[in-house]
Amino acid sequence: MRVLATIAEIRSVCEEARRVGGAVGFVPTMGYFHAGHRSLMEIARRDNDLVVVSHFVNPTQFGPNEDLGAYPRDLERDTSIATAAGVDVMFMPTVAEMYPGGTPHTTVHVADLTEGMCGATRPTHFDGVTTVVAKLFSIIGPCRAYFGRKDFQQLAVVRRMTADLDLPIEVVGCPLVREADGLARSSRNAYLTPAERAAAPQLYAALSGAVALIREGERRAGALVDSIIASVADAPALTLEYVEIRAGDSLVPIDPVRGSFVVALAAKVGRARLIDNVVVGIDGDQVSVDTGVVDAGSDGPSVVVNP
Ligand code: PAJ
Repeated sequence: MRVLATIAEIRSVCEEARRVGGAVGFVPTMGYFHAGHRSLMEIARRDNDLVVVSHFVNPTQFGPNEDLGAYPRDLERDTSIATAAGVDVMFMPTVAEMYPGGTPHTTVHVADLTEGMCGATRPTHFDGVTTVVAKLFSIIGPCRAYFGRKDFQQLAVVRRMTADLDLPIEVVGCPLVREADGLARSSRNAYLTPAERAAAPQLYAALSGAVALIREGERRAGALVDSIIASVADAPALTLEYVEIRAGDSLVPIDPVRGSFVVALAAKVGRARLIDNVVVGIDGDQVSVDTGVVDAGSDGPSVVVNP
């Protein structure tokens, strides 16, 4: 696997691949890889000739009091995970390479979908994400780009941006990857103390409880949200930031629940802010649920004490 740091270099590698008719698959990341990232890389590897991963902790998507300075990094481990997943090129620019003039004058803003959920407490976050993803799309020129359903709102926002700007890129949503006890894999799990790590699976347990109620026939959004709030309250280490039930594509709040929708939450656990969701489809009496997949694999510990 090659590691490239300049826009000129990565552009020329991608241009050459396209020139010979190769399909370029792209996985944008902020590094500190876990099984969620790895699954995106493996899916991209199946479908494309050249697989490019970007590894860039994007400062513009962090708020002033967020964890930009503390964001975990382990380049050696990341390089070996990406190599094992069959990645061809890792694009690892500096902040100066991506933002040579400091904060960019041009930003990409996706209206409506960025309101509420994570956008409520992170008002500048999605503009940072869409702006850097638009830049990366322009630099790499992929046919396909891979995003995890763990960041459900981010995936919806990126899809909207890509459609609105007529970018010739297929945005591929990939399964949410969990640990064996249900905790969604996240680079930020590294912030958890052992006690917080032990409490964190209650988030998924609470979502699973709401799914059980839906299967029993509960359709009132308020009752489902209340059940999650009550369930998370059993774990005092967790402080819920939001629980929302929204239509799967438009992210419009729905009540009663019907069609395809997401039950999503965010919570503070010590220093970490964690998100999770389940996607549910109701068609007549049929209820289908996408909770993601379990990968308890051996890609390093998810708990780092005193990172
Ligand atoms: P990052 O948090 O590093 O995530 C990179 C990609 O991995 C995202 O598409 C995210 O949804 C996916 N991912 C993370 N955890 C996952 C899990 N448990 N299961 C499946 N996929 C998972 O998301 C970002 O970086 C940034 O916002 C970025 C898009 C790179 C823009 O800076």
